[in-house]
Amino acid sequence: MNNFHEWLSQKQAFIESLLEKNLPRVSHETQLNEAIRYSVLNGGKRMRSLLILAIAETIEIPSIAIENIICAVEFIHAYSLVHDDMPCMDNDDLRRGKLSCHKKFGESTALLVGDTLQSIAFSCLSSPFFQVNPDNQLKIIHTFSNAIGIEGMAKGQALDIEYTNKKISLDELKTMHQYKTGSLINAACLMTVLASNGYDKKMLDRIDTYSKSIGLMFQIQDDILDKEANQETLGKTPGKDEQYNKSTFVSLLGISKSKELAATYYEEALAAIKPFGNKAYYLASMAELMMTRSH
Ligand code: IPE
Ligand code: IPE
Ligand code: MG
Ligand code: MG
Ligand code: MG
Repeated sequence: MNNFHEWLSQKQAFIESLLEKNLPRVSHETQLNEAIRYSVLNGGKRMRSLLILAIAETIEIPSIAIENIICAVEFIHAYSLVHDDMPCMDNDDLRRGKLSCHKKFGESTALLVGDTLQSIAFSCLSSPFFQVNPDNQLKIIHTFSNAIGIEGMAKGQALDIEYTNKKISLDELKTMHQYKTGSLINAACLMTVLASNGYDKKMLDRIDTYSKSIGLMFQIQDDILDKEANQETLGKTPGKDEQYNKSTFVSLLGISKSKELAATYYEEALAAIKPFGNKAYYLASMAELMMTRSH
């Protein structure tokens, strides 16, 4: 199949049902389960999962490993959004076109949704049925732990808070974005390569460069959309960054320079996967989709 749009809708349906199957059922004892399902199954674009599947079109990876990596990445991503929206962070009432988790279920439940999704994610990655040799499975877990913690996403979120109401340099901004958004995208891609029993260093390096470039490109687009998109398309409150005096690509460089920079990262991403030839068709198409997205 090389019709990208057909591929996209087929894979999106696959991802939704996979996530649904791997979440806890609704329970009468506590609303935590319902809040978890609400926060994961509420219409994300599933970009990180699609990248994982696009890599799986390029190199051979056991299907059980792919499924577990997708779940782990989407669960951590959903947790990061639930916490990102809380009043002590970005204080946003709207997420994916619906009330954010704390607005719907209260702050204590939102906090626990994050905690729980984090533990379910690691349960997926440490599954005894992973179909990858144990050394590589450990490498995958190690890569993921680093990418979402003190040398990754959590650090990026901390810098985001520290850089609010502050003038920072372009390098500091890039570093913050690399941590807060880039690390998870990078880890999703690297873990997928590590799950291939026949991967080599060259493959890993190419995917590393590709994913770092699109990670930055993705957050530049996020900053641009916060300024340019309307609420209905965006599914979250636009204009938040300016309202809260956040350090973003738009606040530092303006819209047109931000778009130029995004285009540079897009070209870098395409150059990195060129050696894969036709096998990188879906990876190249994903880069384009992430570059031209409207929400
Ligand atoms: C939003 O991510 C937060 C960022 C890290 C930029 P997405 O734009 O992937 O959000 P969903 O999953 O589609 O809602
Ligand atoms: C969020 O960045 C990054 C993480 C959740 C790790 P933003 O704060 O810009 O994301 P949105 O715009 O609220 O989706
Ligand atoms: Mg934020
Ligand atoms: Mg936010
Ligand atoms: Mg944003």
